[in-house]
Amino acid sequence: MHNKDHVGTAAPGRPSRRQARSSESGSAAALSAWIAADPKSLHLLEQTRKIAAGTSTVLISGESGVGKDLLASLLHYLGPHAQEPLVKIDCASLPHELVESELFGYEKGAFTGATQTKRGRLELAGAGTIVLDEVAALPLAVQAKLLRAIEEKSFHRLGGTRTVEVAARIVALTNADLAEAVARGAFREDLYYRLNVLPLSVPPLRERPADIRPLARRLLSQLVEGHRGPARSLAADALAALERYAFPGNVRELRNILERALVASTAPQLTLDALPAQVRQAAHGRDRHKMTLEELERAYIAEILDYTRGKKSKAAAILGISRKNLLEKRKRYGLD
Ligand SMILES: Nc1ncnc2c1ncn2[C@@H]1O[C@H](COP(=O)(O)OP(=O)(O)OP(=O)(O)O)[C@@H](O)[C@H]1O
Ligand SMILES: [Mg+2]
Repeated sequence: MHNKDHVGTAAPGRPSRRQARSSESGSAAALSAWIAADPKSLHLLEQTRKIAAGTSTVLISGESGVGKDLLASLLHYLGPHAQEPLVKIDCASLPHELVESELFGYEKGAFTGATQTKRGRLELAGAGTIVLDEVAALPLAVQAKLLRAIEEKSFHRLGGTRTVEVAARIVALTNADLAEAVARGAFREDLYYRLNVLPLSVPPLRERPADIRPLARRLLSQLVEGHRGPARSLAADALAALERYAFPGNVRELRNILERALVASTAPQLTLDALPAQVRQAAHGRDRHKMTLEELERAYIAEILDYTRGKKSKAAAILGISRKNLLEKRKRYGLD
């Protein structure tokens, strides 16, 4: 859904370019696109808001599919330069020999086939934001050039002599442990420190279970909209199973699971049997030998609240705690 290699990518809420010009509507769309209910992601959103106000380089890390791309867009649209371009480059999907010219651009005649001057993405980002996706995949030679560009705040296009200023905010994304890549000699230490100025870490979905329900609902309605189908909802048993599943592929996996369920079933309400086997298994309890006491407590409280259909006194009686205690725990675990 996100076109990584696209120049001037739309806001996460996908408003048109013109809409994105007004930073207010851009940030409103970006904010509503980012679902956060769990205390962990609310904290991340808080950090993001603060960081967005400045222009220092940001390093966003997190497992595959956690939402790094979306968070980078949010950072842009919440910032003071939201009306400037947002440009992405995916360092992993571009062939090695193309990364440098895509990033820095080239002059006519710089190499065979360079029939006319082309501006690179760093230049196209202007005073906006350049997102370096999968930054660990940058070839070492390009790392050296990027380091120089950051230090000198300027660079030359390939084969050029004219100085191009770096005015954009740099946001680097990684799902690899960059520090470990540095230790292995695969990533320059000096560049690592230049990028890791303001670190943001997106926790895996399984570590912020309170996000699962609202995310599932939102993604489902987005998918239904995209398919132009009739409204669909998720049954309580399906939601409960999703909440217990570990999501190795994070939010992207949740989205894929829902997309497949929509195809597999035509019922207005998706029940547990429309979900893939690994999720249905999770419904019978996650591997409890891998859960902390806190995770177990949270899962059990969620299960009982589900079972009592939210009747708190009844749930508290089953759990053997006071109603007040239940309300406190419910709040702490983001179950309200
Ligand atoms: N908090 C969220 N709210 C709403 N949608 C989300 C959220 N986080 C992720 N998504 C959606 O999940 C999908 C994956 O997110 P995204 O592409 O940002 O992940 P990523 O961390 O960049 O993954 P990868 O490392 O594989 O590139 C996208 O469709 C995105 O819109
Ligand atoms: Mg990504």
